[in-house]
Amino acid sequence: MLPMHEQTLRLALLYGSDRPLRFCDTVANWTLQRVDALGGWKTDRLDPATPAGRHGPSLVRKVRTADAFLVVTPEYNHGYPAALKSMIDAVYTQWQAKPVAFVSYGGHSGGLRAVEQLRQVFASLHAVPLRDGVGFANAQARFAADGSLPREDPAYEAMRLALWRLGWWASALRNARQATPYDAAA
Ligand SMILES: Cc1cc2nc3c(=O)[nH]c(=O)nc-3n(C[C@H](O)[C@H](O)[C@H](O)COP(=O)(O)O)c2cc1C
Repeated sequence: MLPMHEQTLRLALLYGSDRPLRFCDTVANWTLQRVDALGGWKTDRLDPATPAGRHGPSLVRKVRTADAFLVVTPEYNHGYPAALKSMIDAVYTQWQAKPVAFVSYGGHSGGLRAVEQLRQVFASLHAVPLRDGVGFANAQARFAADGSLPREDPAYEAMRLALWRLGWWASALRNARQATPYDAAA
């Protein structure tokens, strides 16, 4: 259940990887299942593995209509994937005054170095990166072959908290954007 849930909020899920046979699908599918199970969101997918996800009007429209973003990303060489950055850079003002949470995965770092860098990127776009998120260290050992995650995994509680906080910010910032356009001072 989301805070202030009188209106459905729109969530855009960003895939961080565009590699063939990417592990990103496993993590994103689990994330989407949790979003559905916890409720309150209408979800779009932004996927750099598809032409529409890399650039163009449908990418811009999905970012413009979203109230919040959830980035599912691996870490490549201690940074964020180029495909994800390229997708972020293809849009500009439509990120403004909207919250961003992260679900990261990788080796022992769990993708946290990529997330720290992405916080700087999103802050420069006037988005609001959250502290709460989910990090999967040794990700490929945590998921079963069918893509399921054992019920006792701490990621369930981390995801619940991150989505609640994302909903708090999404609702608060949507109200604020409606009251006063973010660009009013520019
Ligand atoms: C080019 C490359 C660089 C990588 N660098 C890191 C890294 O710095 N830290 C880490 O934890 N894992 C690293 N990995 C492992 C990835 O986290 C792991 O392969 C993951 O499954 C990649 O996500 P994807 O399959 O969705 O593309 C790297 C993988 C690749 C392909």
